[in-house]
Amino acid sequence: MIDPPTTTTAVVILAAGLGTRMRSRRAKVLHPLCGRPMLAYVIDAAVEATGVRPLVLVSPATEAVRGVFADAAEWAVQDPPLGTGHALQVAVAAMAPADDIVVLSGDTPLLLASTIVALLDRRRATGAAIALATVRPEDPAGYGRVVRDGDEVSRIVEERDATSAELEIDEVNGGLYAIDGAWLRGRIGDLTPSPATGELYLTELVGLAGADGRRVVAHEVDDELELAGVNDRVQLATLEADLRWRILEGHLLAGVTMEDPTTTFIDADVELGQDVVIEPHVLIRGHSRIGAETVIGAGSQLVDAVVGERCRIVASVLESCEVEDDVRIGPFAHLRAGASIGSGAELGNFAEVKQSRIGPHTKQHHFSYIGDADVGEGVNIGAGTITANFDGRQKHRTVIGDGAFIGSDSMLVAPVTIGEGATTGAGSVVTRDVPPGKMAVGVPARIRERRPRPADATEG
Ligand code: UD1
Ligand code: CA
Repeated sequence: MIDPPTTTTAVVILAAGLGTRMRSRRAKVLHPLCGRPMLAYVIDAAVEATGVRPLVLVSPATEAVRGVFADAAEWAVQDPPLGTGHALQVAVAAMAPADDIVVLSGDTPLLLASTIVALLDRRRATGAAIALATVRPEDPAGYGRVVRDGDEVSRIVEERDATSAELEIDEVNGGLYAIDGAWLRGRIGDLTPSPATGELYLTELVGLAGADGRRVVAHEVDDELELAGVNDRVQLATLEADLRWRILEGHLLAGVTMEDPTTTFIDADVELGQDVVIEPHVLIRGHSRIGAETVIGAGSQLVDAVVGERCRIVASVLESCEVEDDVRIGPFAHLRAGASIGSGAELGNFAEVKQSRIGPHTKQHHFSYIGDADVGEGVNIGAGTITANFDGRQKHRTVIGDGAFIGSDSMLVAPVTIGEGATTGAGSVVTRDVPPGKMAVGVPARIRERRPRPADATEG
C-alpha cells in the first residue's frame, strides 16, 4: 500500500507592527504577561499545534524581538512595515513552499494550540482557500468585521473602512488563519493598498479567494479572550488578569492553598509543590520553584528563587537564590543573587545575604550583611555582623568555618578566614585570619586563646 502523501505546514507569526497604541519604547510582543513576553505564548502554541518552528516577521523597529527569541524561531524582516498583507508577502518570499500556511499574530497571547489544530483540520476537510478563526466579543470595537454569505465568509472589513451597517456585525476576525499554501503563492502579490491607510491588508485575501471561486470558512471560537488582541495597555492588563487567574486555578486544583487569590501573583513558569501555603499579598515570579509544605508568608516577593520543603518565609525578598529544606526566613530578610542557604538554617530580621553559602543549621538572626562568603555548618552570626567585602576596587571573600561563633557587631574585613570553632568578640574588627578554635577581639582584632563565650555576644 502506498502511504498517503504527507502534507507540510508552515507557521508565520506577524510581529513587525509598530504597536503605536502601546505608547512604548519596547516592541509590543515583548511586553510581559505573568512574567513571559507575549510572543512566548504564541510561539509555544504554534509549536505545540504543528511541531514546526515558526517564521517570525519583525521590522527594524522590532528587531529586539529577535534577540530575545533567537533560537525559538526563523526570522524575516519587513522593512518598512506596510500592513499585515505586506508582512505575509515578505514571509511567503522568505519560506519554502508548504501545503498549509498558518498565520498568527504575535499580539494574541491567550491563543490555544487546540484552536490552531481545529483550524487546520477545518481547512483540510473543506478544501477551503482560507479557514479563519472568528469570535463574537462583547465589544467588537477595533476588530475587522466578518461579512458572511450564508456559511461562507465573503469579506472582512476593517473597522476604519466599515459602513455603519457593517459596524453592527458582531462577529469579528480573530487574526488567525490557515491558508492553502499553493493558492496563497499565486495570489499574495495581488493585494492592493487600502484607500484609507495605504497599507496592504492580509484580510483582502478573503475577497480574492471568493473571486477565484474558492471557499473561505470560519471557525468560531467561544472564549473571546482566547483571540483577544493586545493593542494597548488596557487590553494587556485585562488579558494578564485572566491569565493570572488561570495560573492560580491550576495551582489551587493541584493542591496549593492560597488564603487570598486576589492578592496572589504567580508567574507562568513558577512551580509549586503539594500543600504549599501562600498567605495574602505574595508575588512569586520568574522560574521560582517552591517545595512541598512550605509556607510563603504575607508580603513576600520571590524572583527566580528555589526553595525546599517545609520552609517558612515571612515578609521577605528572595532573588535568584537557593534555599534547602526546613529553613526559616524573615521577617524582612533579603536573599540576593547567589545566596545558597543550607537546610535548617535560620535567617531573621534584616539579614541580607549575597553570593554566599550559609551552611546547614547556621543562624543569622539580626541586622547583618553576609556577602561573598562561605559560611559553614552550625555557625552563629551575631547581631550586626558585617562582611566588609569591598575595598573600593574589588570584592573579596570571607570564609567562616563550621561551629564558629561570630560575636555581635563583628566587622569581618575580607579577604579573611575565621577557622572552625573560632570566636570573634563583640565589636571586633577582624582584619587577619583567625585560626581554628582561637578567639579574635578588639579593633583591629588580636588573636587570643579562646575563653568561655563572652557574655556580651547576642545569641542568634
Ligand atoms: C488585525 C486584522 C483585523 C483583526 C485583528 C485581530 C488586518 C488588516 N486586520 O487588525 O481584521 O480583527 O487583527 O486581532 O489584518 N503586523 C506586521 N506588519 C505590519 C502590520 C502589522 O507584522 O505591517 C503585525 C503586528 O505586529 C501584529 C499583527 O500583525 O502582531 C496584527 O497587526 P495589528 O496592527 O495589531 O492589526 P489589528 O489592527 O489588530
Ligand atoms: Ca492587533
